[in-house]
Amino acid sequence: MISYKTLGLVNTREMFKKAVKGGYAIPAFNFNNMEQLQAIVMAAVETKSPVILQVSKGARDYANQTLLRYMAEGAVEYAKELGCEKPEIVLHLDHGDSFETCKSCIDMGFSSVMIDGSHLPYEENVALTKKVVEYAHQFDVTVEGDLGVLAGVEDEVSAAESHYTKPEEVVDFVTKTGCDSLAISIGTSHGAYKFTPEQCTVDPETGRLLPPPLAFDVLAAIEEQLPGFPIVLHGSSSVPQDDVDTINQNGGKLVAAVGIPEEQLRKASKSAVCKINIDSDSRLAMTAAVRKTLAEKPGEFDPRKYLGPARESMKKLYMHKIINVLGSNDKL
Ligand code: G3H
Ligand code: 13P
Repeated sequence: MISYKTLGLVNTREMFKKAVKGGYAIPAFNFNNMEQLQAIVMAAVETKSPVILQVSKGARDYANQTLLRYMAEGAVEYAKELGCEKPEIVLHLDHGDSFETCKSCIDMGFSSVMIDGSHLPYEENVALTKKVVEYAHQFDVTVEGDLGVLAGVEDEVSAAESHYTKPEEVVDFVTKTGCDSLAISIGTSHGAYKFTPEQCTVDPETGRLLPPPLAFDVLAAIEEQLPGFPIVLHGSSSVPQDDVDTINQNGGKLVAAVGIPEEQLRKASKSAVCKINIDSDSRLAMTAAVRKTLAEKPGEFDPRKYLGPARESMKKLYMHKIINVLGSNDKL
């Protein structure tokens, strides 16, 4: 059993309390490799922001859970080396699919886990989440529960349509399970194709697809039921069209990729939404930079020469999200 505390990591409890009170959201960025991690840490240090490092099942399969845990420990030391005296870094399991997965992460030093029982019948979701909470809280690890289903692919769980979280269920769920935060569904979804063209309208000036707005009425009803309780939004990439264009101009083919407009995330950050998950935007920034560099320098074969610009581009993206969208800068 390795306690995250010995690795210099923190759980989400105090971080969320301050974020809800202060009207901002903590960035939860997924990472799978060194360049993403370096970019996240550099951005968090430069903006003086707390940060959540998220590890999905896909990331654990790709990069190995043990290695990712040591990388997170390294991230704390790296942040200090960059000049941050007291970094606030959470290592979080994204979409834990079973008690065993959550336990394995808790036992090896994760400071926060998500148990995703959103696809289960309600009572089964309650029972599973409660079991994870009871185990996690013995070690002061915080737990994110999930109510409501997002359209698209959540790790290996996929759903054709989203089902908004039912505000009438949230008090019962939080009381029975004891979870520390709650992921809700109000119209976001995972990936770079969040809406079909039929669900969008077309901007007459740019010809770009304009997505339907998030269900802020559902969010308000949830907040009314659970005043001040930490709420989480998954699937919150904005799918920057500049990066989509760069990818397509350099041999890629992303057709009708559309995300959540940043004004809506800015609005959500000011509410009880205190954790916003962003993964796809970082993938797009990385891919755009790699494609552009290789197109411009076809003779290049040193990975540092194309992963370096990719890392720089991700760092810029993370800083932009922190400062201009979530508002978590200068909160350390
Ligand atoms: O849950 C969605 C995240 O973007 C993780 O995606 O399972 O492909 O790593 P992944
Ligand atoms: P995006 O695909 O919108 O970046 O969402 C990531 C996410 O919610 C991870 O859990």
